[in-house]
Amino acid sequence: MRTIIYLLAMLFLASCTNQTQIVTSPDGAVTVKIITDNNVLQYSVNFHDKQVVLPSSLGFKFANQPDLLGPFILQKTERRNVDETWKPVWGFDSMIHNHFNELRLFFKEKLEPQRRFVLVFRVYDDGVGFRYEFRQQENMDKVAIISEETQFRLPGGMAWWIPGDYESYEFLYNHTPLAKIDSANTPVTIELKTGPVISIHEAALYDYADMTLTHAGKDSALFKSKLVPWPDGIKVKTKTPFKTPWRVIMIGAHAGDLMESHLIQNLNEPNKIKDTSWIHPVKYVGIWWGMHIGKWSWYYGPKHGATTERTKQYIDFASTHHIPGVLVEGWNKGWKTWLKGKNVQDYLKPYPDYDLKFLADYAKKKGVFLIGHHESGGNIPSYEEQIEEAFSLCEHLGIPAVKTGYAGKIHPEGMHHHGQWMVRHYQKVVEVAARHHIMIDAHEPIKDTGISRTWPNFLSREGARGMEYNAWSDGNPPEHTLILPFTRFLSGPMDYTPGIFNLKFEANGKHRIYTTLAKQLAYYVTLYSPFQMAADLIENYENQPAFKFIEDVPVNWDETRVLKAKIGDYLTVARRKGQNWYVGSITDEKARHWKISLKFLKQGQTYKALIFTDALNTDWVNNPTTIEIGAYRVTADDSLCVMLSPSGGQAVEMLAAQPEDVRDLKPISTFNQAQKKKIKPFDAVPVYRKN
Ligand code: NOJ
Ligand code: CA
Repeated sequence: MRTIIYLLAMLFLASCTNQTQIVTSPDGAVTVKIITDNNVLQYSVNFHDKQVVLPSSLGFKFANQPDLLGPFILQKTERRNVDETWKPVWGFDSMIHNHFNELRLFFKEKLEPQRRFVLVFRVYDDGVGFRYEFRQQENMDKVAIISEETQFRLPGGMAWWIPGDYESYEFLYNHTPLAKIDSANTPVTIELKTGPVISIHEAALYDYADMTLTHAGKDSALFKSKLVPWPDGIKVKTKTPFKTPWRVIMIGAHAGDLMESHLIQNLNEPNKIKDTSWIHPVKYVGIWWGMHIGKWSWYYGPKHGATTERTKQYIDFASTHHIPGVLVEGWNKGWKTWLKGKNVQDYLKPYPDYDLKFLADYAKKKGVFLIGHHESGGNIPSYEEQIEEAFSLCEHLGIPAVKTGYAGKIHPEGMHHHGQWMVRHYQKVVEVAARHHIMIDAHEPIKDTGISRTWPNFLSREGARGMEYNAWSDGNPPEHTLILPFTRFLSGPMDYTPGIFNLKFEANGKHRIYTTLAKQLAYYVTLYSPFQMAADLIENYENQPAFKFIEDVPVNWDETRVLKAKIGDYLTVARRKGQNWYVGSITDEKARHWKISLKFLKQGQTYKALIFTDALNTDWVNNPTTIEIGAYRVTADDSLCVMLSPSGGQAVEMLAAQPEDVRDLKPISTFNQAQKKKIKPFDAVPVYRKN
C-alpha cells in the first residue's frame, strides 16, 4: 500500500508543469536558464551561443534536517534591472558600472517539511552571480550544512588551478584538462573548449565556509562546491535567516576581459564606513626582506632586524624618496614562539632595542608613517584577546595600517584557515580595525571575495605564493606572475611585494629571483595592489636610476586597460592616473616582442615617456639587472615597441607635458627603431586584440 501511495505521489509530482525561467544580461551576451524540472532544480549559462555551464543541479545536505534537493515548487518570481555607477574609495578604475538583470525565484519544497528559499541570479555582461537566501521560517531554524550541492557542469577545457587546500593558497598553478583537477581553491580560471574564458569564484564571503571545487561523480567536467569543514565535519553552522555567498562565474571572450571586470566587487554591498578620509592607498618600504633572506631575525638577538637605528634609516629613506609607509616586522615581543607549536606574541610591547613611540613620532616629523605588524602565527584566542588594545595603540601612535599574519597552525586545534570560524575572525579584525581607523593588509588571509567594497579599510592581502618564496624555497618560476593576474588577482588586490633589485642575492645562487630588473618594475602596473611594497633592502635602491619608476608609479588608478594578454605567457596593462598613463609589459621564460598602439592617450596631447626596458644583452639567468632607460616624446598617434628578454619586462610612464617641454626629446620612433634591431632572438607574438 505504502509503495502505491508513493508511486501515486511521484506520478502527481511528475505531472506538475516543467518550468524554465530565462534571464539575460543587459547587452544580451550572457543568458541563464533556470529549469525546475519535476524533481530537480538546475541552471545553465551561455555566452552568446556558446555553452559555459551545462544544466547543473543546486541544493543542500544538512546534518540536522532532511536534504534540500527537491522537488520544489516555484511559487513566484521577481525581476529587476539595476544600472548605476559607484565610486570606490580606491581601485584600478575610479568609477565602476554596476549593470545587471536580476531574477529572484521563490521556491518551496513540494514535500514536508516544505522549507522555502529564494534563489537570486544577477546576470551581467561579464558573468553571473547567484546565491541562496533563506528567510526565517517555522520548519527551519538552526542549520548545519554538511554539503552545498551547487554544481558546475562545464563543457570541458583547460584550467589554471591550485589545490583545494584548507590552510593555504600559496601554491604554483597547475595547467591541466578539467579531468586532472582533484580539488581546487577558487578562483579557478578555465579556457573552455567552446571558446569563452571563465573564472569560477565567490563574492561576499561572510560567516560561511570557503568554497573549494571538487569533482561530482564520474563526469570529468562536472564540479561541485566543497566547503571547508569545522573540526566536527560540519561545514556551516548558522540559523535562518541567512544568505550564502554569491557563486560567481566570470566570463570573457579573452583572458584580458576577466582582468578588467568588476563583477566580484559589484556583487558586494556598498561601503559601510561613513568617513573614509583616513583610508588611502599606501606605497611602502620595510624591514622585511632581510629576515626572509636570513640576514636579520624577527626575534631579539644579535641579528635583530627591527632596531631603532635601522628603522630610522628606513624612515629617512622613505622620506627622501616620497614613499609614505615603513613596515617593521619583528618589533614586538614573542617571536621566539613563532612556528614553534603555539605562537604567543605581545602586540603591545616592543623589544628593548625598538623605541616604538620615538619612531612613530620621528616618522611623523619626516612626513611618513610606520606600518604595524601582528603575526598571530595562527593563535587566534591570544590575538583576539589583544586586538582591541593593539589597534588602539596604533591609532594613538598614528600608525594608520597594520599587516596581519597567520603563518602557522590555527589554534584552537582542528580549525582551518579557510573555515567558517576563521572567516568570522578575519572579518572581526577588519571591523575592529575600522573602528580604530586602521587599514589592513592580511597575509595567510581568507581569499578575497570583494568585501573591500563594503570594508575599504581592507586594502590588500596575500593569499597566493608571493615574492617571499624566492628567498627560501625553489622560487617562483618566470610564468608564475603571468598566471596570477588571471587567477588570484581576479578576486582582488594582492600584496605580492615586488621591486627586488638585487636579483642574485645569494653568493651560492641557491636562491634568487627568476626575472629581469625591468620585469620587477613592470609588476607595479601588472600586479595591482593599493598596498604596494618596494620590497628590497634600501641599500639596494641607492644610486639606482631604475628606482625612479617605483618612486613615480601611483598605487591608485582612474582607468585600466588590458592591451595584451595570454594566461601564463604575456601581458600588457595600461593604467591612467589623472592625465598620466603607465604601461607595464611582462613575459614568461620566453623572449617576445609586440607593438602597442598608443591611441588610448588623449588625442592632441603630448607626453613625456620614460621607458625602462630590458637591454639586448639582458638575460634573466646571467645578466638580469641590465636595463635601458630613456626619455622620448609621444602622442596618441604613436606606437610603442615592446621587446622583452626571457622573463623580462618593460615599464613606461607617460606624463602629460606641454609641447615646448618635450621639444628637445627624441621622438619615440627612434626608440622603436633601436628596439627592432633586437628582433632576431625574439619570437613575435600575434596580436589577439586591437587596442
Ligand atoms: C608570512 C608573510 O607572508 C610574510 O610577509 C611575513 O614576513 C611572515 N609571515 C612573518 O610574519
Ligand atoms: Ca605568506
